[in-house]
Amino acid sequence: MKTVLITGASSGIGKEFATIFAKEKYRIILASRNEQKMKKTAQHLKQTYQVETHYVAVDLAKSNGPELLYNHVKENNLEVDVLVNNAGKGSFGPLHELDIQTELDMIQLNVHSLSHLMMLFLKDMVKRDSGRILNIGSTTSFYPCPLSANYSASKAFVLYLTEAVAAELQGTHVSVTALCPGATTTEFFQHAKMNNQRVSKKEDTMDPAKVAEIGFQALMKGKTYVVPGYQNWMLAQSPRLFPRNTVTKITRSVLEKTL
Ligand SMILES: NC(=O)c1ccc[n+]([C@@H]2O[C@H](COP(=O)([O-])OP(=O)(O)OC[C@H]3O[C@@H](n4cnc5c(N)ncnc54)[C@H](OP(=O)(O)O)[C@@H]3O)[C@@H](O)[C@H]2O)c1
Repeated sequence: MKTVLITGASSGIGKEFATIFAKEKYRIILASRNEQKMKKTAQHLKQTYQVETHYVAVDLAKSNGPELLYNHVKENNLEVDVLVNNAGKGSFGPLHELDIQTELDMIQLNVHSLSHLMMLFLKDMVKRDSGRILNIGSTTSFYPCPLSANYSASKAFVLYLTEAVAAELQGTHVSVTALCPGATTTEFFQHAKMNNQRVSKKEDTMDPAKVAEIGFQALMKGKTYVVPGYQNWMLAQSPRLFPRNTVTKITRSVLEKTL
């Protein structure tokens, strides 16, 4: 039985990944802060799909979070075949108005923690010459996003890291893929205090199950990156079509629109 470790598995896209991997009969390890939510999901997956489930409550915005998670996996003699590096959060507003510590915590989670987990598990995968990693970026991985400056920069990091490492791994049986979704119907906008922004309008956001399915297919094919949805793909191409300062004007006007 293969094993998948999914971070940020208590809700949204991560929870959908857990269902997909359970259907594929993977042993599931869920990781996030909310133990109660994960316990419920773990029980549901175990009963519905007859798979082994584990959950680890860990704060990945703390610098020791990745190592605690890695050590927990090792102490339980589990070998991770697939890492879904999904935990992440957003923020909204002009940088000078945002709380510095909250922004630093977001960078710790979206950048440091993702990279740290990737390095820890990648070493084992390369030793075995087997394994897959899926890093969750965003359409904002492709362009700077005023009013979400640190967030878009953190997601650019995810895409650059993934593309570079994917090239390093060519010729091995280890693959790294970035999933770069656009607006998706999850708790993301609520946590980022973007509920009143037009971009969060339910009719225009993608179903997280669909996003996770597209990510799963790309991961299994060993693709370097995937952008779910044609409109999102077009958005990701905008820096190729327009001058860079036009792109930031467009992204600012999109994010400014309220419901
Ligand atoms: N929704 C979108 O429009 C969208 C678009 C592009 C990219 N994304 C990316 O997709 C990924 C998943 O987000 P989502 O949309 O599914 O949002 P979500 O429903 O808010 O899920 C975020 C997940 O991350 C976990 N998390 C947050 N802070 C954490 C911490 N300090 N330590 C451990 N886990 C933590 C949360 O669990 P706990 O709160 O229980 O810890 C939750 O399971 C993120 O990387 C996000 O940036 C989302």
